[in-house]
Amino acid sequence: MEKEKEKIRVVCYGVGAVGSRIAKSLLEKEGIEIVGVIDVAQDKIGKDLGEILDIGKKLNIIISDDVDGIMRKACCDVVVHATGSYLKDVYPQIAPIAKYGVNVISTCEELSYPYLSEPELAKKLEALGVKYAMSFLGTGINPGFLMDTLVITLTGVCQKINRIKVERVMNAATRRIPFQKKVGAGLTLAEFKHKMDTKQITGHVGLEQSIAMVAAALKWQLDKIQVDQVEPVIAENEVRSETIIVRKGQVAGLKQTARGIIQRKDAITLDFQAYIGAKDEYDAITIDGVPPIHQKISPCVHGDHATVAMIVNSIPKVMNAPPGLLTMKDLPVPSATTEDMRKYM
Ligand SMILES: NC(=O)c1ccc[n+]([C@@H]2O[C@H](COP(=O)([O-])OP(=O)(O)OC[C@H]3O[C@@H](n4cnc5c(N)ncnc54)[C@H](OP(=O)(O)O)[C@@H]3O)[C@@H](O)[C@H]2O)c1
Repeated sequence: MEKEKEKIRVVCYGVGAVGSRIAKSLLEKEGIEIVGVIDVAQDKIGKDLGEILDIGKKLNIIISDDVDGIMRKACCDVVVHATGSYLKDVYPQIAPIAKYGVNVISTCEELSYPYLSEPELAKKLEALGVKYAMSFLGTGINPGFLMDTLVITLTGVCQKINRIKVERVMNAATRRIPFQKKVGAGLTLAEFKHKMDTKQITGHVGLEQSIAMVAAALKWQLDKIQVDQVEPVIAENEVRSETIIVRKGQVAGLKQTARGIIQRKDAITLDFQAYIGAKDEYDAITIDGVPPIHQKISPCVHGDHATVAMIVNSIPKVMNAPPGLLTMKDLPVPSATTEDMRKYM
């Protein structure tokens, strides 16, 4: 009789809003187990994962900030990481994982295509991956899928392409609380401007990375990537989420456009809007080409659920991939992992 394959062993690094959803999803899956949890939040350290996830039972997995202690004991295959958006902040967390020969899959937006904003760190990650026979991948819904991987996939049916436009419009009320705060919902215009000036509100992180990934897949040489200033969306009437009330005249969220420019023309345009009260929620990709493509997903894909899925579904693909720094355009076509995870290995 064939010996049953061992379960895939995962350490969760960061169990905030997104990381805890990833952990819950992993717990529901066959063929995979959580063998350690790392987080620095004082209200989480020392607690049982079951308590943090509020699932009504203990899991006997204690959250710790001792990265090496957890990594030495865990003997894991993958670290799923969800702590931050910027590679310079996240690099000191993920680079030391390499020496354990364990793959890292992260929600870090800049890691999705790090050659652009952090080319030196990208080189270091590539070298670490090759040295220790492990891989790094940054993924999620956006960047990671909607404005890059899906766009690249749709170009596969085109003979010619003049330009590409992607729009994502979402109602922030249905998203996690950190996200609603991140888009400035409920602030006055003056508070929004102050938070923008002090970089407490940065707008969506990842538009440049998505443009660069699409351009790289198409081998388009962009003259530049221009990210327009973040603009507030002002509520015309009172709107609310479960936790935030936005009064008429206050900020409901934000909008932002980024362009990949070739010879002074917009070759790739990404238009991102997230605000409480958005009625028409959709993701749309328009490719002006042969044949022309008009693809619309309505309502838009739920970012939190989809980010969890992208991270979890990427696990076997990353484990099967060559070592080094990976991006979504280097991996096989994304697909769900509805069966026992070991079947995908
Ligand atoms: N690519 C995508 O599509 C996508 C989608 C969703 C989210 N994201 C990104 O994923 C990241 C996580 O999102 P989130 O909403 O879950 O954030 P969050 O709620 O703030 O959770 C982050 C967690 O990580 C912890 N943490 C911070 N620094 C740490 C460190 N050095 N070591 C260990 N733990 C650390 C935080 O602790 P403290 O609270 O004490 O800081 C918190 O518990 C964000 O940057 C978000 O923008 C990307």
